Amino acid sequence: MSGKRIVDRSGSVLIFRLLVAFLASVPLLVLVINIAGQSLGPDPGQEVTELLGIAAFQLLIVTLCMTPLKRWTGWAGWIRVRRMLGLFAFFYAVLHVLAFLQFILGWSDLWATFTKRPYIVAGALSFLMLIPLALTSTKGMMKRLGKSWKPLHKLVYLIAIVAWIHFIWQARSDIGEMVAYGLVIVGLLALRWKWGGARGVIPFARG
Ligand code: HEM
Repeated sequence: MSGKRIVDRSGSVLIFRLLVAFLASVPLLVLVINIAGQSLGPDPGQEVTELLGIAAFQLLIVTLCMTPLKRWTGWAGWIRVRRMLGLFAFFYAVLHVLAFLQFILGWSDLWATFTKRPYIVAGALSFLMLIPLALTSTKGMMKRLGKSWKPLHKLVYLIAIVAWIHFIWQARSDIGEMVAYGLVIVGLLALRWKWGGARGVIPFARG
């Protein structure tokens, strides 16, 4: 019997997965509660867009933490929730973009808006790069892509950097929070570099 099965049978990974799924759903619950209670402040559309953007960004960073946590603790459970966390990040990113289109932009002048403001260009770039990762996150696609899967998924480091640029570029205040996120991303990149050399963080690099 494989070690994987043994972990599943103990139930610890299943409980952990449920806990992580619940925690990753908290931003959505907060949003629904705030909408129901009409407590979103003077500009609800902007509030919704911001809440979803920060949820996508934070979950992306949490996803990147899973491999280091597995290496440090030796517990496979971290890796078993990695894909789910990445998909939650993508889910919030999709909602963030839809909220932007619906509440801020109003679905008009799409091309002009997306190309005029540099921070929007950065957001759109990170979103576009997230799409192939979400589409290839299934076990079937992993199998089909074989050795190309890992090099493709190294895009996640570039996505985190570009999403961070998007975040800091539109900031009006509290730069400290953005700097903290930047330091976490740099730390995660440094770890991957240490463990796998430069190839460990360069998108599409093999090895
Ligand atoms: C087409 C793609 C995207 C567009 C058009 C877009 C648009 C925006 C806009 C307009 C804001 C500012 C809202 C405001 O305060 O007025 C924003 C904020 C933000 N976005 Fe995006 N975004 C995109 C993709 C992403 C992605 C992929 C991520 C993360 C993975 C992300 C993370 C954030 C974060 C963290 C904020 C700051 C929220 C805050 O101030 O608390 N965005 N985005």
